[in-house]
Amino acid sequence: MAALLTTRILLFCFLALLAGAADAQLSPAFYDSSCPNLESIVRSAMTQAVNREQRMAASILRLFFHDCFVNGCDGSILLDDTSSFTGEKNAGPNANSARGFEVIDAIKANVEAACRATVSCADILALSARDGVVLLGGPTWTVQLGRRDARTASQSAANSNLPGPGSNLRQLVSAFSAKGLSARDMTALSGAHTIGQARCATFRSRINGDANVNASFAALRRRSCPSSGGDGSLAPLDVQTPAAFDNQYYQNLLVQQGLLHSDQELFNGGSQDALVRLYSSDAAVFNRDFAAAMVRMGNIGPLTGSRGEIRVNCRRLN
Ligand code: HEM
Ligand SMILES: *[C@@H]1O[C@H](CO)[C@@H](O)[C@H](O)[C@H]1NC(C)=O
Repeated sequence: MAALLTTRILLFCFLALLAGAADAQLSPAFYDSSCPNLESIVRSAMTQAVNREQRMAASILRLFFHDCFVNGCDGSILLDDTSSFTGEKNAGPNANSARGFEVIDAIKANVEAACRATVSCADILALSARDGVVLLGGPTWTVQLGRRDARTASQSAANSNLPGPGSNLRQLVSAFSAKGLSARDMTALSGAHTIGQARCATFRSRINGDANVNASFAALRRRSCPSSGGDGSLAPLDVQTPAAFDNQYYQNLLVQQGLLHSDQELFNGGSQDALVRLYSSDAAVFNRDFAAAMVRMGNIGPLTGSRGEIRVNCRRLN
């Protein structure tokens, strides 16, 4: 009898613990009853946006990365600066670079029309990033939901937490490790550079002096990115298939055709060489690792429960 009672008490404690943990966790079913059409609303708006401009899939994916790495996936990157508020949009890694905000606004407007003041901007960004990857032929994954939106942003955290294109391998590993992500996650997530574009200013030194750059590739890139001028001129991060989400990025690294110095650091005689070779030859392994790493990145520091708010306009606090 006493034993049975103890078992019951233990079971109760276990269930209470589970419930407490679930409270602070994300779930794919979070909006199942409050906004049942959420995923299809986001998917159709992203389909339109990517049909209009394929690069938008890349721009939104990067927005999600830049949101998550700065005080967690809390929609902070979406806040506009005002005279009394300094946000993240004008931090070094984002200024004249982060884009896609109008697309998030349009998706948010559609979501608000269907489910008023229910779905966070942070979750809309997480879903849109996944949909963009799928639209360009990449892997899919189940998006965890239930993030709430920050009531603050941090330009200084954006400047210090986002790794720059001149980073070496040690710095890349440590920037991801600071967010609880492994070196393998870092190498898989860098495969996002299989789509999208970079400005000359971010790769000029790479094509003008890096020892491990492919000579003909560097010469090609220097045509629109000379040693001075043309800072804003764009080049695809993946020279071969810039609008397909595939494993070509890693194949490029094998022939020293990474566009950014930080890209080529993943294949430069260091700890990630074997993994780059693996991803370059096995798209299924890359797809699987990328999808799993995106879920882990999406779990960085979410605001849950009663923290934060559900912003009505992604650009402003309520
Ligand atoms: C590993 C460290 C990383 C560094 C140093 C880095 C750096 C950069 C830089 C310098 C650009 C070009 C920006 C510009 O010229 O305006 C860029 C573009 C991009 N990055 Fe990264 N990145 C990193 C990781 C990631 C991750 C983890 C993701 C997403 C999972 C990502 C997604 C993208 C995408 C999709 C673009 C193209 C955006 C567009 O075309 O609008 N990057 N990155
Ligand atoms: C440079 O790229 C070409 C293909 O464009 C390739 O044949 C060559 O092996 C590369 N060079 C190096 C050093 O990887």
